[in-house]
Amino acid sequence: MQLGGGDVYTGGRRLPEDTGIRHDPNHDPLGSEHLGQRLRGGQIRQRGKQAPFRLGHDVATVPNAGCFYNADTGRPQRGLGVLRIRQLSRSFREGARVHQVLDRADAQVSRGETVAVTGRSGSGKSTLLNLISGIDRADRGTVEIDGRDVTAMGEPARTLFRRAHIGFVYQFFNLIPTLDVAENVRLVLELNGVRGAQARERSLAVLADVGLRERAHSAVDQLSGGEQQRVAIARALVHRPGLLLADEPTGNLDEQTAGEVLPVLLSLTRARGTTVVVVTHDVAVSSLADRVLELREGRLHDAPEPRARAS
Ligand SMILES: Nc1ncnc2c1ncn2[C@@H]1O[C@H](COP(=O)(O)OP(=O)(O)OP(=O)(O)O)[C@@H](O)[C@H]1O
Ligand SMILES: [Mg+2]
Repeated sequence: MQLGGGDVYTGGRRLPEDTGIRHDPNHDPLGSEHLGQRLRGGQIRQRGKQAPFRLGHDVATVPNAGCFYNADTGRPQRGLGVLRIRQLSRSFREGARVHQVLDRADAQVSRGETVAVTGRSGSGKSTLLNLISGIDRADRGTVEIDGRDVTAMGEPARTLFRRAHIGFVYQFFNLIPTLDVAENVRLVLELNGVRGAQARERSLAVLADVGLRERAHSAVDQLSGGEQQRVAIARALVHRPGLLLADEPTGNLDEQTAGEVLPVLLSLTRARGTTVVVVTHDVAVSSLADRVLELREGRLHDAPEPRARAS
């Protein structure tokens, strides 16, 4: 069995993409067992067989899948972390009409840089993030991360690459409600082959970084929105990805809570040298970014300097 075949499912439910696990569209999604129980019991399955990883203490390791697999160091490799988007195009068919969402978009993001992407609703911001992470495929053009052409990879390699090198933060947190706080964070490490005491220690350390060490064993639905988003940030960074993609990370938070969460996100990514692409309508986010790109008519345009925008 090969991991990262893109057809992993659990309990008939799609898992969040940041885990790198994808629901099998060909499988009858009728699983009646509870998602969390299945995860706890090691019941993540792939093509009808149990996948070789679980959340227990005594488990087999994920098979070494070659060069895309480096989670036991968990650090971005030196000299890497650059994102290059070249002539990226993506269209969707709507009946007889073709809707050209991205039209030869170009951009380059330096290692450690925080770039905000703005644009009106429907301009293609989420589509762009999905192409960068390889969740979606471009019609034309290339995405290079850490010097590797994601668009040229097959599905198993893209899944493993995403799992090891990219972190995600979404507007609606996307935590798994049946796992506690620490288990939510640990899942990404487990999927990357880091487990046992090491996985537990790293999860607790990153929870301490976001100020939630004391809540490690709380149920996620007992946390406030701002706390849940801090858990999501911990989960996104626990495997020390070189690239963090965030889609409206403050979009579901009130202004004050957003003002508490945002510095957590940016101080952690800046301290770790993580490259960040953050889609946002929030001026507070774009004013703190190093650079702002506006997605307009399918292309990325330099926006005025963040400080000029904020003043
Ligand atoms: N799978 C899909 N099939 C058909 N059309 C799609 C698909 N995904 C996105 N689109 C279309 O592409 C356009 C861009 O969508 P996208 O979600 O990327 O916009 P967005 O900039 O993220 O908007 P918002 O700010 O509202 O989140 C929209 O018109 C949307 O309907
Ligand atoms: Mg969107």
